[in-house]
Amino acid sequence: MVNSRSLGALSVTDEIIIQDLRKEDLAALAELYEDGIPHAIFCALGKKFIARFFGWLAEREDICSLVGLGGDGQVQGVIVGTLHRSESYSSVLKQHRLSLLAAAGWRLLSPRVLVWIIRGMTERLKRHGDELDLPDAELLLIAVRSNARGTGVAYRLVQSMESRFRCMGLVGEYAILTEADNVSANRFYERIGANLVGKGYHHRLLINRYRKVIDTLASREKES
Ligand SMILES: CC(C)(COP(=O)(O)OP(=O)(O)OC[C@H]1O[C@@H](n2cnc3c(N)ncnc32)[C@H](O)[C@@H]1OP(=O)(O)O)[C@@H](O)C(=O)NCCC(=O)NCCS
Repeated sequence: MVNSRSLGALSVTDEIIIQDLRKEDLAALAELYEDGIPHAIFCALGKKFIARFFGWLAEREDICSLVGLGGDGQVQGVIVGTLHRSESYSSVLKQHRLSLLAAAGWRLLSPRVLVWIIRGMTERLKRHGDELDLPDAELLLIAVRSNARGTGVAYRLVQSMESRFRCMGLVGEYAILTEADNVSANRFYERIGANLVGKGYHHRLLINRYRKVIDTLASREKES
């Protein structure tokens, strides 16, 4: 899925090429998602749902979606970010609801999904307005193939997303939300210089909220 700001290959170092997510990468994205974040609710909706959802998302102008390809052309990692966290998910769910419902099929009625929906509705009733004091831009997803972790692929993906965010007009910070018990992700976010600014519950899961200043990775690299 190549969006309208396609820059082709953003950068090449060693064996990894970072480029726009293409339609043919969506199956690999769904696989990485299921493998990397198996307890996420999207996994209960199935690979077809995940691929379709991120395919629709990637078509939006305010989305940056990139993949890291290995020397053999296989997807080693994926990153998706948005300039408008409050809008992008909900507009895709609204605009493409029939296609997404069809992709999820019977899984929509699984106990896990039903419990998740009910918990979300109860939380929304208890909450008054949006309590999150976070930037509108957000890193929505990052996942690296398990045998490629610890090699700098994730770091390269974040760097490329930040360059792309800058080209899309973002200055300042973006948000990162991740489960507090996702040790490797939290360690990674701290390592790249994201600041933990709060914690909160979402569907009864404890979530860490980070703010990350754009371009700190690029400037760190210039300094070294
Ligand atoms: C979160 C995640 C993407 C981080 O990936 P990662 O492999 O740890 O991150 P990197 O590829 O940048 O690797 C960094 C490590 O590789 C090392 N490294 C090796 N070569 C490197 C290079 N050229 N550049 C940068 N780091 C390099 C770093 O020193 C660092 O090691 P350390 O952990 O001992 O400090 C990965 O754990 C993952 O896919 N998790 C599952 C999905 C998930 O939970 N996503 C988050 C929620 S959306």
